Amino acid sequence: QDVRLWGGRFADGPAEALAKLSASVHFDWRLAPYDIAGSRAHARVLHKAGLLTDDELKRMIEGLGLLEADVAAGTFMGTIADEDVHTALERGLLERLGADLGGKLRAGRSRNDQVATLFRMYLRDHARIIGGLIADLQDALVGLAEAHPDVAMPGRTHLQHAQPVLFAHHVLAHVQALSRDAERLRQWDERTAVSPYGSGALAGSSLGLDPEAVAADLGFERGSAGNSIDGTASRDFVAEFAFITAMIGIDLSRIAEEVIIWNTKEFSFVTLHDAFSTGSSIMPQKKNPDIAELARGKSGRLIGNLTGLLATLKALPLAYNRDLQEDKEPVFDSCDQLEVLLPAFTGMMATLTVHRARMEELAPAGFSLATDIAEWLVKQGVPFRVAHEVAGECVKECEARGIELDGLSDEQFAAISPHLTPEVRSVLSVPGALASRSGRGGTAPSAVAVQLQEVKADLAVQ
Ligand code: ARG
Repeated sequence: QDVRLWGGRFADGPAEALAKLSASVHFDWRLAPYDIAGSRAHARVLHKAGLLTDDELKRMIEGLGLLEADVAAGTFMGTIADEDVHTALERGLLERLGADLGGKLRAGRSRNDQVATLFRMYLRDHARIIGGLIADLQDALVGLAEAHPDVAMPGRTHLQHAQPVLFAHHVLAHVQALSRDAERLRQWDERTAVSPYGSGALAGSSLGLDPEAVAADLGFERGSAGNSIDGTASRDFVAEFAFITAMIGIDLSRIAEEVIIWNTKEFSFVTLHDAFSTGSSIMPQKKNPDIAELARGKSGRLIGNLTGLLATLKALPLAYNRDLQEDKEPVFDSCDQLEVLLPAFTGMMATLTVHRARMEELAPAGFSLATDIAEWLVKQGVPFRVAHEVAGECVKECEARGIELDGLSDEQFAAISPHLTPEVRSVLSVPGALASRSGRGGTAPSAVAVQLQEVKADLAVQ
């Protein structure tokens, strides 16, 4: 039996080479549950329009239920001969209901409006799954910050020692970035809550169907598409989803890169838990940060999924073109990658051991309190331009002597500038430097405690 949905005007079946090229069932099969939900909603509007009798609707819904159960159990599957998931499920319905009833469901719909709708449903579900996994990671990072509320570390710019910061402050910076990613997902979800079902192939339907009823049935809070051409041809929702997942990958890669560096012998800031590290097949001593490296690597893949998709969409004329079948694999992959990466990443961060002594030993190194000298001078009435010069002289003197700033004697300070009285020592401590940055968003323990409360309140409603 010919399973094709379009055989009528063709004298010959498709060449095998075409069938192989054309098939998408091996990757769009994951849309099957959504396709069946769409079919159920469609059957109801056909009935509402008088195109199915009460009895036909009842049997149609039963048939779809049987098909759904067989799909879930794996006893009904699409094959390469089915071309795509929509074709396969129509075959399944015909097998269960017979051609007379089964053949009625396709009225007033096209695979073009179907696939645009199902794809939205799938991605909306996965936006929520990924959002939940991000919240788990944020919880782990918040836990890390809370467990180390007073640990100082070298804050860096250009990867050079800049100013001491609280470790908790640094960790919460990553939490803030992830909060924006989670917010992006929520806003995307809201924007994507529009159903293309009822758009048909591109022009809508003459059968008096009710697209708004289908939209409500399928959980599209913003109703049905206002333009059937746009409904079937637009894929900016996919591109935007690909961007958000790429951004998540990039934000993870930035944490990952730090974990990799912190975990080196030279830094020795952290140790990874054995359960979240891997070994070497030749070097017995090795313990590698593979999760962080895979995160860094996968971020490249996520970016590739986005850019490939954008290239596919560029200059595509309206309305549906078969190019659009290329839209699914990249973002399916982005979902798969993040859904396998995030739990491992969260485990790695939740079980990290922080080496407080090492971080605090290095916090004041590299003259990272020079800004504190300059700002202390400003408080004594010295113009910042002069204060910056004077503090720079202190650094030069220390470099020449191979000492840190607090190693300068009172006489050496005084020789650099008469403004540098012994009281300057009051700011040459890491706790003092931290505590002084107490304004909103600063690194003082008091300010970080406020930030932590805000972040936790945010996470509670996210
Ligand atoms: N499988 C197609 C896709 O994923 C949907 C089918 C549309 N095919 C067509 N010939 N109009 O985009």
